[in-house]
Amino acid sequence: MSKQVVSKLQTIKFIENLLSASVDGIVVTDANQEIIMVNKSFCSSFGLSNDDMIETNLLEWLKRVDGNMVRTWFQLEKDLHTNNTCHDVEFKIILQEREAYFSVNASLLDQIECDGPVILSIWRDVTKLKQIQDDLIRKEKFAVIGRVSGSISHDIRHPLATIKNSSYYLNTTLKDQDEKIKKHLKLISDKVKQADEMIEALMRLSETNETKKERININESLEQFLVEFSLPEHINLKVELDSECPDIIADHLLLRQAFSNITLNAVHAMPDGGTLTVETKRVRRRNEKESDLKEDFAEISFTDTGSGIKKENIDKIFEPFFTTGSKGMGLGLLIVKDIVASNHGSITVESEEGKGASFAFNFPEIL
Ligand SMILES: Nc1ncnc2c1ncn2[C@@H]1O[C@H](COP(=O)(O)OP(=O)(O)OP(=O)(O)O)[C@@H](O)[C@H]1O
Ligand SMILES: [Mg+2]
Repeated sequence: MSKQVVSKLQTIKFIENLLSASVDGIVVTDANQEIIMVNKSFCSSFGLSNDDMIETNLLEWLKRVDGNMVRTWFQLEKDLHTNNTCHDVEFKIILQEREAYFSVNASLLDQIECDGPVILSIWRDVTKLKQIQDDLIRKEKFAVIGRVSGSISHDIRHPLATIKNSSYYLNTTLKDQDEKIKKHLKLISDKVKQADEMIEALMRLSETNETKKERININESLEQFLVEFSLPEHINLKVELDSECPDIIADHLLLRQAFSNITLNAVHAMPDGGTLTVETKRVRRRNEKESDLKEDFAEISFTDTGSGIKKENIDKIFEPFFTTGSKGMGLGLLIVKDIVASNHGSITVESEEGKGASFAFNFPEIL
């Protein structure tokens, strides 16, 4: 073998090593989106090997994950043809129930001879960063809402108390009221009660209560909650508790409030009756690299057979003041999310419109 060939082979080997050492995913595609070259990191993001991906079509993989990714890719290609490079294009991937975010930088490789433009794209996993950013934004929003609503609620409480007292006075002093007056006085007191409850919820938001963390047996805590909650008669309750469900560390009262908000929503979603299934289980997770490193979770799910959530609303339901109900304030799930986050847990939702919704809490096991 000539010196030149040896040197070329060494260079190729060196480049291959460089690519496989990169923590970012790297993929080179031709004008038809066929994968010419791909590194280990990119393949493992899709749970695949290099052999599975090479010479296949990138769009096929993106399509399998989510149709939106294909649209984002086409947009990226369009931008590349005008600017030659593209920075920080966000791709959201849901794989094996894990949600991951990638920030993609791409450029056209003019030097390479191919039938059309060749694209080099570098995929950086920014899931953790995104979670931290989202958390910060949420906390910030929460703090502002808390402060504003706290002061507004305080000011509204006084006039409301006066209305309440006056209507009580009228109710007790006006003897032999005719039906219309009776109806209107009842309306006043009902609406005042409703406004009072809303203010109560807002005041709770603005309180910065100290949390009291303790060891919690999830099954016992849930059983107690379900007895105290007393569901309306038109709701059928199914309870499936796993005796292996691990203990967690959390604030008992806050946890109950989270369960209560989720159950209330389920009840509201089933005005004509239905079934609420409350389930617990131990979820086993093993660290892939160190297989003895175990990390188990307690999963608590509330599944209803109610109206379900529209696809376009699913990302909005944890936002402050998002509501589709006529009486709600859109704060219930925001509070739940905050409680879950402050107790090192997470919450996920799955729903199909018209079929029901399922909310699942996950908390790490306390050993
Ligand atoms: N189990 C469910 N089934 C169907 N939709 C749901 C369910 N849970 C929540 N949602 C949707 O999410 C929205 C937001 O819920 P959230 O609990 O934050 O507010 P709300 O119930 O409308 O008002 P609040 O809880 O403040 O009284 C609801 O209005 C509803 O559209
Ligand atoms: Mg609610």
